Formats: sequence, structure tokens, C-alpha cells
Amino acid sequence: MTGLKMPKDFLWGGAIAAHQAEGAWDVDGKGVSIADVLTAGNATTPRTITDGVIAGENYPNHHGIYFHDTYKEDLALMAEMGFKAFRTSIAWTRIFPNGDDAEPNEAGLQFYDDMFDEMNRLGIEPVITLNHFEMPYHLVTEYGGWRNRRLIDFSVKYSETVLKRYRNKVKYWITHNEISNQANISEASTVQDFLVWTNSGLRYDETATIAERMADMYQAGHYELVASAKVVQLAHQINPDFQIGAMLNVSPIYPATPLPADMLAAQKAEQLRKWFSDVHIRGAYPSELEALFERTGYRPDITDEDRQILKEGTVDYLSISYYATFAVKAADGKTPALDDPSSIESVKNTLIPASDWGWTIDPEGLRYTLNQLNNLYPNLPIMIVENGFGAYDTVTADGSIHDDYRIAYLSAHIAEAEKATIIDGVNLIGYLSWGPIDIVSAGTGEMSKRYGYIYVDLDDEGHGSGKRLKTDSFNWYQNVIKTQGENL
Ligand code: BG6
Repeated sequence: MTGLKMPKDFLWGGAIAAHQAEGAWDVDGKGVSIADVLTAGNATTPRTITDGVIAGENYPNHHGIYFHDTYKEDLALMAEMGFKAFRTSIAWTRIFPNGDDAEPNEAGLQFYDDMFDEMNRLGIEPVITLNHFEMPYHLVTEYGGWRNRRLIDFSVKYSETVLKRYRNKVKYWITHNEISNQANISEASTVQDFLVWTNSGLRYDETATIAERMADMYQAGHYELVASAKVVQLAHQINPDFQIGAMLNVSPIYPATPLPADMLAAQKAEQLRKWFSDVHIRGAYPSELEALFERTGYRPDITDEDRQILKEGTVDYLSISYYATFAVKAADGKTPALDDPSSIESVKNTLIPASDWGWTIDPEGLRYTLNQLNNLYPNLPIMIVENGFGAYDTVTADGSIHDDYRIAYLSAHIAEAEKATIIDGVNLIGYLSWGPIDIVSAGTGEMSKRYGYIYVDLDDEGHGSGKRLKTDSFNWYQNVIKTQGENL
């Protein structure tokens, strides 16, 4: 018992993404997405981006958990837990298989009509992401991904199509999943290659310099933000009740020590990601970004018209994912050189534990980050749309799964979210944990990195019965929702 309780209308639930769950990657006219050319990796081996779909490779997103065919049964389990909301994404390639098609694919539209009807029938509020790491592959091969201004029109056309189609079925929308991931240019190149791929469909060979990648990332990010702002404006015309959200991964970056150079390193590292939310929420680039463009020669194509669109298309709420925190220090103890990523060094935070995938476990960091966001954007509605613990699960002989480690992680995080809401006054409107049912990991392509209250009997090669089993955390979360978060 925490003694704290979330308000009655609080949106409790869970979240997944189409490409990690649906499978059915090539049925009913669906096109190839950028997720369909990602092979499986694991905790130590990165996923590979292949040139098209190559026979004989293991592409886990091709099957996911077969949610395309099982969503009714799966949603019934979510309803049994008492879900008030469920987040998933629309696969752009079901609607416009190539991205630049003249007409949408009716079979794809009908699929989501049926799914949203089912959620509404069960009394579960859909929260729908328009772009979650699954843009059409064709837009990469033909147009070079989001570095091309034409992507704005393709994306807006797709968004307008679905916003109109589902205007009476979906109220909460998210434009672009974790848009700021791509800013981590200073990381090891495989991670970096992966993040710009999933966010923006950008690809490089090893000869590309950091400066070239940076310039591209700012350009792609700008076009995505313009597209998002256009979508916000359009959405409000289509249905004034729509709530359109931005989506950022928030991973607070702590200074390794109170040395002023370390403090500055942490602040600079955070600024490199935070500007995305500023544009989404305030409708303009923060001055540190304008100064960076001035200083570095990165000259993104930003027109006056774009600036006007950004100003007029600010979001209604901020949605966030929160998993872990990071720590950095100034390399050699020197004040970080501006624009030189190597002057800021990532360090391991030895004061807190980490998961088997090296993700730190830091519940207080969630309260800290919610307060930080509330300071930046006072009283803005915030929805946690991802938080969870990826872990190996063991099915015992009687079919039960004792995932006390998952319950420990989630209850500690929910407790901090409650303190932020009730004690600190943050305007938190929902908590959707990640992967309420096991899905393919986005980062590694594994099934064995599991987040679910519901275990799915599939292994990393896609073998298994696909059967759904309730873990201990299933009943636990059901009770959390029933008691509005009082019983953790
Ligand atoms: C977020 C993504 O980055 O983290 C999800 O929005 C992803 O798509 C989640 O699944 C957890 O990451 P992973 O690599 O454990 O699947």
C-alpha cells in the first residue's frame, strides 16, 4: 500500500507497436517496412539491416506474435486486467504499401477499423501511434528516407487518411515514436546506425563522418517535426476533440560527479535530445539549436513557412517512454568542447542495478524526469506510454511464471509516478506499461527479452505454439488497476 491513488479517469493500460506484434508482414496488400528488413540480434549482437528481404534470413517482425490474427483474444485479456487504454501503432505499409501510392489500401484500413471497434466494444481507449519505426522501405530506396522534404507530404497524406477514417473511433494520437532517439550520434556506430534507421530510414556506410550524420539527422528531424505540426493542425480540423501527442524517450542524463565540467557535460548531452520536445510543444527551435546551426554550418533546410507551421501545430500533450537513466562525464575532466561528441563520455552508473541487457533500474529517475518536464512545460498533460522490464522468463512445470522481478520493477516505478502526480503536482494522465503481452524486442529482435503480463510461447527463431499464458504479474497488475494504484 502506498497510501497514494491515481484519479478515477487515469488511463491505466499497456502499449505495443504494430511491427513488433502483428506479423502478417506481406498479407492483404501490405508493403515492406523498414522493420521488415531487420534481422534478429541479441544482447550482444546487433540486428542487421539487409538490402531488401533476403531469403533464409531470420526476420522476427515477419511473424511478431501473430497479433494480426489474435488481437481479439489478446485484447480480451487486456480487458480482463481492467485496461482503460491500449496503445498500438498503425503500420503505414498496410495503408500505403509503398508510401507514395495514389490510393490507400482498403484491406489495411478495414483491418484497423475492426481492431478499433473491438477496443471500443471492450471499453478500452485506443492510443494510436502514426509512425513507430515502420515507414515504408520504398521511401528509403526511392527517396532516401526522411532526409528528403517530399516525405512530409507522404506522411501527412497517410496521417490524414487514417485520422479521417477513424475520427469517431480514436481520440488519442501520437505522431512520431521516440523522435529524439536519433540524436545519439556520439554512440557506437552500430547503435547509431540502428537509431537513425528506425527513426528516419537513414543509412550510411562506414565512410560517413559524424558531421555528415549530424547534418542529416537535423534535416530529417526537422521534416518530421514539420510533418507532425501539419498533422496536429489537420487533426484539430478533422475532429476538435482529438488529442495529439508528441512522443519522446526520456532518459535523464546524470553528471558522474558534481565537478562543474561533468555538470555541463550532462546538460549538453540532455540538450541534444530535448530540443525535439521544445519544437513540438513550444512551436519553435530553442536558442541553443539556432546557435548550433549558426556555429557549425549544419544548415538544415528550414523555411519561414516551416517556422509558421511549427508555431501553429503545437501538440496537446506529451507522451514519454521511460526505462533507464544514463551518466556522463567530461572527457579528461575538461569543459566539454561544443559540437564534439567525443568530449562527453558515457560512464557506467555503479550506484544502481541494471537488467540483463544493461539497462539501469532507476525508479526515482522517473519522478525526477517527470518533475523536470513539468518545470519545462508547466502543467502540460503527460502520458507515460512505455515503461517496463525486459527479462528472461521461465515457465515452470505447471505452466506458471513467477515474474517477481517484473512486479518489483513496475511497482517501484508506479510508486514514483504516483508521488510525482499526487505530491509534486505533475499533470500525469496515464500509465501504459510496455509490452503487456510479450512481443519481438525492437532493439534486439529477440522474443526472449520479455515484458509481458502475458507470456507468449514463441522462441527467438519463431518456434513454439504461440499459446498465451498468464504470469504472476497479470493478477498483480489487474489489482493495481482495480485499486487505482493503491495496492502495489
Ligand atoms: C522503445 C520503443 O524504444 O523501447 C519500443 O519505442 C521498444 O518499440 C521499447 O520495444 C523497448 O525496447 P526493446 O529493445 O527492449 O524492445
